[in-house]
Amino acid sequence: MQKEAKDFLILALDVDTMEEAQSLVRELKGCVSQFKVGLQLYTSVGPDVFKMIQDEGSKVFFDGKFHDIPNTVAKAGANLVAKGVDVFTVHIKGGSKMISTTVKLARETAKRCGLERPKILGVSILTSFGQRTLTEEIKVNLNIDEYALELSKIAKDSGLDGVLSASADVASIKTACGKDFLCICPAARPTWSVVNDQVRVITPGNAVKAGFDKIIIGRPITSAPDRLQAAQLILDEIEASLLMQDEERFI
Ligand code: C5P
Repeated sequence: MQKEAKDFLILALDVDTMEEAQSLVRELKGCVSQFKVGLQLYTSVGPDVFKMIQDEGSKVFFDGKFHDIPNTVAKAGANLVAKGVDVFTVHIKGGSKMISTTVKLARETAKRCGLERPKILGVSILTSFGQRTLTEEIKVNLNIDEYALELSKIAKDSGLDGVLSASADVASIKTACGKDFLCICPAARPTWSVVNDQVRVITPGNAVKAGFDKIIIGRPITSAPDRLQAAQLILDEIEASLLMQDEERFI
């Protein structure tokens, strides 16, 4: 089935209260495919936010970016499975044992609860990182795109469903890990919006054109004076990019 513009959009609910989150979900559920709960909202309101989103008929992406010993991450993942979240994230730098243990326990827990296993995605390098931070602070000498690719291969081999990755990496990741390996873009910025603390950004239209399966957007929508209009502008941009791809296919 052909994907619609809405299927590409994940809204980051980076707010502090349940009231603000619910107001965003109610206003924007017609425009997005999933609502992403991150550390800001989760540490303020806890797992009740999952139920709120589910009760509104929407899907939950929990971006907890787990990075701990295998047993701890796997058990936390199993708790998320039982709560019916649709997607959650782990840091690939937690290593293949942490990832494979988590995937295995998530599969077993989903089976036991009669639920579908959530998609589990890997975070390679934060999009707020540039080459300087990686090389000078973290002391990784690889080129940032090569490093993201190496981490994505670990993610694939350890059983993850996909990765959150920056603009430059998507084509090489799809080539190395297969076209069904999900690539989610967490740093999409329309040209009319400020970049904030993101470094490696891409416009929503170019993200779709580059081959991303979904894009995450927060502040360009949540901080806009008219949130619905901001979301609609982004959907129009994605739609235009999809149409262009269709036309190119027929040439
Ligand atoms: O407000 P903004 O559009 O920058 O929100 C981006 C969201 O994506 C934030 O919730 C952030 O935590 C998340 N994210 C990211 N970079 C990653 C992974 C997730 O910015 N590599």
